Amino acid sequence: MIRLIPQPLFVHERAGRFVKADGFTLERKQLSSFLGEESYRLVISDKGIVAEAPTEKGFFYAEKTLSQLRAFYGDSLPVCRIEDSPRFPYRSFMIDCARHMFPVHELKRMIDTAASLKFNKFHWHLADDQGFRIELKCYPELTRLGSMRAGDRFGQYLQSDKPYGGYYTQDEIAEIVDFCRERFIEVVPEFDVPGHSSALLHVFPELGCTGKSVAVKLSNEIFKDVLCIGEAKTEVVVKNIISELCTMFPGKYFHIGGDEVPRDNWKKCPKCRAFAASKGISSEDGLQLYFINSVSAFLEEKGKTVIGWNECLKGGELNESMVVERWLDRSGAALDAANNGRKIIAAPMNPYYVDYPYSFYSLSMTYSYDPFNEKRLTPAGRENVIGVESPVWTEFINNCAKLEAHCFPRWFAVAESGWSEPENKDYRAFEIAAEKLSGVLHGVGINCAPIEKWNPNTVQKIKENARFMKNYTTTGK
Ligand code: ACM
Ligand code: ZN
Repeated sequence: MIRLIPQPLFVHERAGRFVKADGFTLERKQLSSFLGEESYRLVISDKGIVAEAPTEKGFFYAEKTLSQLRAFYGDSLPVCRIEDSPRFPYRSFMIDCARHMFPVHELKRMIDTAASLKFNKFHWHLADDQGFRIELKCYPELTRLGSMRAGDRFGQYLQSDKPYGGYYTQDEIAEIVDFCRERFIEVVPEFDVPGHSSALLHVFPELGCTGKSVAVKLSNEIFKDVLCIGEAKTEVVVKNIISELCTMFPGKYFHIGGDEVPRDNWKKCPKCRAFAASKGISSEDGLQLYFINSVSAFLEEKGKTVIGWNECLKGGELNESMVVERWLDRSGAALDAANNGRKIIAAPMNPYYVDYPYSFYSLSMTYSYDPFNEKRLTPAGRENVIGVESPVWTEFINNCAKLEAHCFPRWFAVAESGWSEPENKDYRAFEIAAEKLSGVLHGVGINCAPIEKWNPNTVQKIKENARFMKNYTTTGK
């Protein structure tokens, strides 16, 4: 039985029949319509190989399916007809390049692999407390100084007094955007505000509530240095940065973060208090909401669809068109929002944060997650889940081999949840295909985690979890 990753919608196989296909080239037939803009039909017979699709995207996915068939079967291809289209329109992977950077060639390898899994969004996390990683013409000092930190204090294994830094030039960003476009992947940049802003505050201390100097951070904590909402210059600087970012990232979506924003400074800040009073805002949550709504309205005027992490829902009425990315939603607010009409993306920390070890979120756990299984989600709410995303945060991931081993094969599982219908999913069949696919990726130098790590047993879990937690909670030397 043909089993690919992600498993196609419909596979009709002529049992036991194969064709020698090394001389065949792919013939294309344009369809006026089929099962949507990403759909395709692929027919392999002794007459040849034919791809039919209504759009270039469809042809692209037909080719990806064919290359996986070739990788699994060599030049003896099964006689079959595959008809395929995705379950969700938004299928995303996120790489945090703020905590640790990865070279352009490595990002391209990650993107290329993700494209072969039929992901269509690359969420690029480019600015955080530990570094601002974009070349900006409007604020060159933000690039020069905000991209450098004095060392590393990430757990017991990443301790260093050697300055760490770097950024992507605008040419490199254009190269990544083009590389993605050729693979029908949209780059979704994230400029995280008003928290996670130490790198910005390092260069513009006047945008903080205290006005005191702020260091680009070295460790993995949630920092109280957040942007001052009562300071008029804050919005000016943020909007100038966004305007320049929009010239680099032509896609429809733009991510403004909004996660993990301690309110401590806002409570004490005379400017924030006066501002709240002047706007009739009665809480710190209201200040956050005001800021997020203002920044997102600015982006919407530029034609963008704005995404924020689920904390953006706090404090009142979030702009209606904002999409919420659900990562840690203990109260169920994001599910309620979906039930009430808001578009959401499912990126549950448990089990989609692949920076956690396999002992936390094993391959089978990642595979088993289905956004529709959330009990609180109503049938109407399900209609508003536009897709899935798996982030890899990189506080503890500082090299390419580690990055790849954390993501693969767990991103195989996420890809399948984004693309394949639940009734076509089956863990055992998936795992056998995953073993084949990881062999294929190993062949091109991608460091997939070895199979014995995919689903650790209880003893391995206890040991690995303890090691991880010890590391996670160590910050100083
Ligand atoms: C997040 O993990 N803070 C979105
Ligand atoms: Zn303030």
